[in-house]
Amino acid sequence: MVELKTENSTVSAKKFSSHLSAYLNQIHNKDQGFYTAPRDSETVKEINEFASKIKGKYNHIVILGIGGSALGPICLKQSLTHSFTERVCDCVRAREVNDFPKIPHSIPELFIIDNIDPILIKELEDVIKLEKTLFIVITKSGTTVETMSQYYYFRDKIDEAKLNARDHFVFITSHSKGKLREIATEEKITTFDIPEKIGGRFSVLTPVGLLPAKLIGIKIEEILEGANEMCDKFLSEDESRNIPFQLASIQYALEREGKNIHVLMPYAQKLSGFADWYKQLLAESIGKKIDNTKKIVHTGITPANALGATDQHSQLQLYNEGPNDKLIMFIEVENMGPEIPIPPIEAANLTFNKLIQIEKESTENSLTKNNRPNLTIKIDSVNERALGELFILFEGATAFLGEFYNINAFDQPGVELSKQLTKEKIHGNSQT
Ligand code: PA5
Repeated sequence: MVELKTENSTVSAKKFSSHLSAYLNQIHNKDQGFYTAPRDSETVKEINEFASKIKGKYNHIVILGIGGSALGPICLKQSLTHSFTERVCDCVRAREVNDFPKIPHSIPELFIIDNIDPILIKELEDVIKLEKTLFIVITKSGTTVETMSQYYYFRDKIDEAKLNARDHFVFITSHSKGKLREIATEEKITTFDIPEKIGGRFSVLTPVGLLPAKLIGIKIEEILEGANEMCDKFLSEDESRNIPFQLASIQYALEREGKNIHVLMPYAQKLSGFADWYKQLLAESIGKKIDNTKKIVHTGITPANALGATDQHSQLQLYNEGPNDKLIMFIEVENMGPEIPIPPIEAANLTFNKLIQIEKESTENSLTKNNRPNLTIKIDSVNERALGELFILFEGATAFLGEFYNINAFDQPGVELSKQLTKEKIHGNSQT
C-alpha cells in the first residue's frame, strides 16, 4: 500500500483537479501500453514456462542492454535480492535476524552489462563460464549500437566455443522490427516481445523486467498485483484516489515556481536503484524542445537522486541552505525487517530500524523549517507488491506531467539524434 503525504509540499494538488478527466482522456488517446501491460497474463504464462524449462541449467544470467532496456532489471535486482550475495533474499519477511538470508542455491546470479566500457566486459568474462551462461539481449529497436556490439561480441565467443547459440541466447525485442528480430527469425532463437506501444523507459513490467526477475526467483505475479492496484488509482477520475495525478500536480506547480530539480530520496538502501530508474523516466519523458503545437518550449525537470541516511552527510547541506530550487521526494519504508538493536551507548532502546525513521523525520523537519518543499511516499516494505505500485505511481505521474506541459512524454528525439550521429561516425570510420 502506497501513501502520499504532501503537507510539506507548499502547493496543493487540488488546484488542478478539474484537469484530471481531460488529461486522462488525452493519455488514452496516445494509446500507450504501460498501464495495460500488468494485466497481460499470457506473457506471464510464457515467462513461467520458459523459467521451468531452463531451471537448474545456468549459473549465470547476463543481460546485454542499455537505458530503458537495463535500468528496470537493475532496479528489480537491487531492490529484491540480497545486497551482498546477489541472490534473492527474504529478509523483509523473516521474523528473526537469524532467519535471513535464506538463499535457494539453485538460483543463478544475474549480471547486467549496461555499458560498453571494455573493463566491464573483461571483468564479466573473468567470472562467467560460457557453457553455464544464458545471455538475455534486450533492445526494443533491435539496432542500438551498444547492445548489438555486446551481442556480436558474446555471440562470437559462444560460436568459438562451439556452443549452440539457441541454448545461450534469449532476445527481448520488437515483434516486427530491427536487426535482432531478423536474427531471431533466421536462427530460431527464443524471443519475447516488447509491445510496440510501450517505450523503453516504460517497459519494466513487460518481459524486459519480468523475465530476468523470474529467473532469479522474484515473485513477478506479486509485482503485477501491486502494479494493477496502482493502475486502478491512475485510471480513477476521483482526484483524492489518483495518487499519480496528485504527485504530478505538485511536481508541476512547484516547477512553475522555480523548483525545477526534483530529488528522489529513499530512506532504504534497496531503493537506490529505483531512484536511478526514475531519473531516466523523468529526464527523457519531460525534457523536450517542442510542445504538441510544435512551439519551442524547452521543458524539463532535472532529476536527482539521494539516499537516506547516507546523503544527510553529503547533499543535505545544499538542499537546506543552497538555492531554493528543489522538491525533495522521500520514500519512507514502514517495515524494514527484523528489529536490530543498537547497544545502549548512544541511547536506550534504540534499534537501527528506529534510528533510520528518526533520521528521516529530522531531515524532513529541517527542510520544512528552511521552507524547502518536500513530500513523502510511504510504503509498507520493500517487496514485490510495493515495487509494482511504485513503478506505476511514477510512470502515471510522468504521463500526467506530459499533459501539464502539453508535450509528448513518450518520445525521445534527443536520444535518437545521439544514436544517429554515433552510427554516422562509425560508418564513416569503417570506410576510412
Ligand atoms: O526509453 C527509451 O526509449 C530509451 O532510453 C531506450 O530504452 C534506450 O535508448 C535503449 O533503446 P533500445 O531498447 O532500442 O536498445
